[in-house]
Amino acid sequence: MTDYNLLADQIKSLAEDEPNFIPVLSNASALIYDAMEDLNWAGFYLMNKGSLLLGPFQGKVACIRIALGKGVCGTAAGNDETLVVPNVHEFTGHIACDCASNSEIVVPIHNDGKVVGVLDIDSPKLNRFSEDDKLGLEKFVKALEEVITFE
Ligand code: SME
Repeated sequence: MTDYNLLADQIKSLAEDEPNFIPVLSNASALIYDAMEDLNWAGFYLMNKGSLLLGPFQGKVACIRIALGKGVCGTAAGNDETLVVPNVHEFTGHIACDCASNSEIVVPIHNDGKVVGVLDIDSPKLNRFSEDDKLGLEKFVKALEEVITFE
């Protein structure tokens, strides 16, 4: 099981000297990709001109823009809720960037109370993300929200 408390501490200390979102999210995607087993993609989509724009990530090339309400990312951002999808092939509207993906978790990120993006993680394993992963990743995103600056 991933140590999400350690991950949250690591991202806080990495952001101490430089809280700008580009290095912080780049390092956050690297931390997650390295610390969690059975992943094929981990990264961020950020709100830009009313839709989600691809941000820092680890994994194969991914789609660049996702409309709110579309796919797992756009649905999680639009409804402002974490989505755990045990089998992406059963999620209507799932956007397949890497055909190796079988399960996915998306956690919204906030700034000043508004959704400013999402953390998106994909796995080739069905049902990869447990309730503990959900709680741990929400904690990790809270830590990110506390330290990051978006200007
Ligand atoms: N599967 C996502 C699209 C992004 S890729 O997984 C990196 C979705 O349905 O929103």
